[in-house]
Amino acid sequence: MNILYDEKRKLFHLQTPNTSYILGIHGLGWLTTLYYGPKLHLKEENLLVVRDRAFSPYADLGDKTYSPDTLPLELGSVGGGDFRVPSVELTQADGSSVTEFFYKCHKIVQGKPALDGQPAVYTQSEDEAMTLIVTLEDAQAGARAELYYTVFRDFDAICRRAVFINTGKQELKLERALSCCFDLPTDQYDFVQLSGAWARERHVHRTPLRPGSQLVESVRGTSSHQQSPFIALAAKNADEKQGRVYGAALIYSGNFVAQAEVSQFSTTRVVMGINPNGFSWQLDKNASFETPEAVLVCSAQGFGGMSRCFNKLIRTRLCRGKYRDGGRPVLLNSWEGCYFNFTADTIVRIGRDAAKLGIELLVMDDGWFGKRDDDHTSLGDWTPYPKKLPRGLKGLADELNAEGIAFGLWLEPEMVSPDSDLNRAHPDWALQVPGRVGVEGRNQLVLDYTRADVRDYIVSTVNGILASANIAYVKWDMNRHLTHACSALLSAVRQGETFHRFVLGVYDVMERITSANPEVLFEGCSGGGGRFDGGILYYMPQIWCSDDSDAIERLYIQHGTSLVYPQSAISAHVSAVPNHQVQRVTPLATRGAVAFTGAFGYELNVGLLPQEKQKTVAEQVQWYKDNRDFLASADYYRLRSPFGSNASAWMFLAEDKSRALVQFVRKLNVPNEPLDRLLLDGLAPDAQYRVAESGEVWYGDALMELGLPVCLPDGDFTAQTWTLTRVDE
Ligand code: GLA
Repeated sequence: MNILYDEKRKLFHLQTPNTSYILGIHGLGWLTTLYYGPKLHLKEENLLVVRDRAFSPYADLGDKTYSPDTLPLELGSVGGGDFRVPSVELTQADGSSVTEFFYKCHKIVQGKPALDGQPAVYTQSEDEAMTLIVTLEDAQAGARAELYYTVFRDFDAICRRAVFINTGKQELKLERALSCCFDLPTDQYDFVQLSGAWARERHVHRTPLRPGSQLVESVRGTSSHQQSPFIALAAKNADEKQGRVYGAALIYSGNFVAQAEVSQFSTTRVVMGINPNGFSWQLDKNASFETPEAVLVCSAQGFGGMSRCFNKLIRTRLCRGKYRDGGRPVLLNSWEGCYFNFTADTIVRIGRDAAKLGIELLVMDDGWFGKRDDDHTSLGDWTPYPKKLPRGLKGLADELNAEGIAFGLWLEPEMVSPDSDLNRAHPDWALQVPGRVGVEGRNQLVLDYTRADVRDYIVSTVNGILASANIAYVKWDMNRHLTHACSALLSAVRQGETFHRFVLGVYDVMERITSANPEVLFEGCSGGGGRFDGGILYYMPQIWCSDDSDAIERLYIQHGTSLVYPQSAISAHVSAVPNHQVQRVTPLATRGAVAFTGAFGYELNVGLLPQEKQKTVAEQVQWYKDNRDFLASADYYRLRSPFGSNASAWMFLAEDKSRALVQFVRKLNVPNEPLDRLLLDGLAPDAQYRVAESGEVWYGDALMELGLPVCLPDGDFTAQTWTLTRVDE
């Protein structure tokens, strides 16, 4: 890791272990992207080609070759001749939004400066990272942009963000304030996105870049089920093992945009940040605006290399708290087993049955508070429903604890039901536009988290609940998207700030509640995986990945999610068959194999299973307990993609390559099946590995080049597992 500044050539060379990012200062002071890719040596290389182009305006009247239209730029601005997608737009007192930002100064610091009130990658010691801060200025507008670049000693990642500061005498309005912008010299990449819908989140889509813009975005107030705040640009030849892949992930839980634009000269601009659609920010004199953080990863080892970098960085330097490094309890969630139909006695009975099988934590899902018998009422009234919980939360927690199982609770703290005491007492606490009727989603409204009084109320309510009983876990849900995003307390010129202020409010509440309850394991959720992003993972180390718990549907969802997020963050449960979302019947062994891939648990009434199935559950639970520390810290390799094929396979490999777990799931049975061998990855080629299931010893190279013979049990949706241990002979 290093950041070098060459004063003579006016360039910065940012170095991670295996990548270089080179910035230049050119002409009037444009900050340019000169290179991003595998690590380079630098001597006298020509890093920038500029030409006089028809219809490309030049700001430096003495040199027509320098045009903002064709320079690769680190800050794209509006109206001054850069016609590509901008990363900043600033309206000034005279109504103009033309800006031209030029280099003013820079500094290089050890470590990584923290963000104020926003989630971000952190370091544990100053020597893990270095940060370059380049200040650009538009003197006429009275505005500065500070661009932050952090490089890491142990990761091929670069964290980027921007701070926009009003240094002048007039008020400014930010209409667009993106976290990063850079230009690549070709368009020979595929655009990769993770897209879907409720119950089928983060499916992988890969399409060739084409002239003009392609983008993914959310305007729903959360990062959303529909798109994920991540894109990759992959070389045409890139696969899991090789080829250059650039990944960009935004650490943000609200409206975002991630965009690639191919220019007239076949260069590609990449921008990412808060979605300008629905955003504006009043920048008073001396005020500043800090964008969320974007994490860039460049891998020469294809998607696998990119993912392992993201996975480990997020797991070890974005997630926090007691559960960061593993040790997550095996839980049973009541939702699919009972839905709203339970009492304390039901929960205790399920807990008792679960504890007998080794399950460590019982989560009581939605339906325990207010007068909640269905989803029409009571969000906001976070007091136990006497009809269901006559002995309150403490009574229930104590009874479960006496059965030898910990107690966890479902909450949805950002919401209020119109039919609730909270809404009747504070009708102005929900987001709304005065005079408009508004719309409901799942019969509920969204609390106005831009307001400090609302946030304080929620923090003290939730902290009170957590203090009232022995609660070891919270599932924090969020079951609708934002509409009518107006706040009663913001002035008219500031209403464009509501979406972002809502996200900042969520972060504030999450920070205060999670830091006050360091022993509690928090799990994020938003109708399943509707807010699966790095922002939430900063506060909660795992997220319920999807409301679709079917093992085969999960192959797609978990494969896509693993492109960015670590397995330890992907909450995955074994549920009943026929599956409640798709009615599919899959073997219990397959459901177990797929759920082992994430933070493992059950979501069914285990006591209703036949005895032999309960025995299998007990074996699965024990297996997971024996292996969870290994799984949580292992590197993850995708071996077969479920997209466009009849199978999916993956592998966990210990960092020291001493052991591996390999799993293969076939979707439909194939009569008279062709022979198949599964090629493994990442092993030490000259080491020997014992395959527990067959007792054979194989060399690592044979496992990777010849491959394990696949021999699945008969039937649809079956699975095969191999457990490898390195042997020294
Ligand atoms: C959301 C969650 C589910 C469950 C229900 C309860 O849909 O994703 O797991 O908690 O809410 O209402």
